[in-house]
Amino acid sequence: MNDTTTPETQAPPVARRRAQARKKQAAANASLPMRGPTEVDVTLKINGVEQVARIEPRVSLLDALREHLLLTGTKKGCDQGTCGACTVWVDGRRVLSCLTLAMACEDHEVTTIEGLAKGGELHPMQRAFIAHDAFQCGYCTPGQIMSAVALIREGHASTDAEIAEWMSGNLCRCAAYPNIRAAIRDVRDSEAGGNDASG
Ligand code: FES
Ligand code: FES
Repeated sequence: MNDTTTPETQAPPVARRRAQARKKQAAANASLPMRGPTEVDVTLKINGVEQVARIEPRVSLLDALREHLLLTGTKKGCDQGTCGACTVWVDGRRVLSCLTLAMACEDHEVTTIEGLAKGGELHPMQRAFIAHDAFQCGYCTPGQIMSAVALIREGHASTDAEIAEWMSGNLCRCAAYPNIRAAIRDVRDSEAGGNDASG
């Protein structure tokens, strides 16, 4: 039998498309300059300011922030993506910085809790947390606040049940949940919250 089809042309369309995408990605990667595995300069734009961290490519955004750039407002709880203490924004979206490589954030905007206050004025969500006593030890609070501001912007704060669901990635061992929800409701319902939920 004279079968001239190649393994690739025999493959179903989805597998073929994936193979082509892999080849394309491999070609694109090959054209990138090699970086690492030793320390390299990684440029990060954090709270509107470009900073350079000299780190190994395997360093998480959380460790780059805390250990290399001394922005210690972002907290390390579990370091494995389950507690939410390390929540920051990348391009306005909340991410777990312990599971995000710092290097992958080059060319993106990173916002941390240090970037929320403007001109010496606390963000409305920070003020609401204080007003509603929405913390005890305060360890989870930076992550809670970063999530809470994003939650309103995402439109996921209509009801208490929705707030609880969409804040469920942020754990609070002090169980300040009712007060946290009260703070979020307050900002959601206030004119300031509606105008300034972007941070
Ligand atoms: S420290 Fe990142 S989720 Fe716990
Ligand atoms: S205030 Fe203590 S863990 Fe949330």
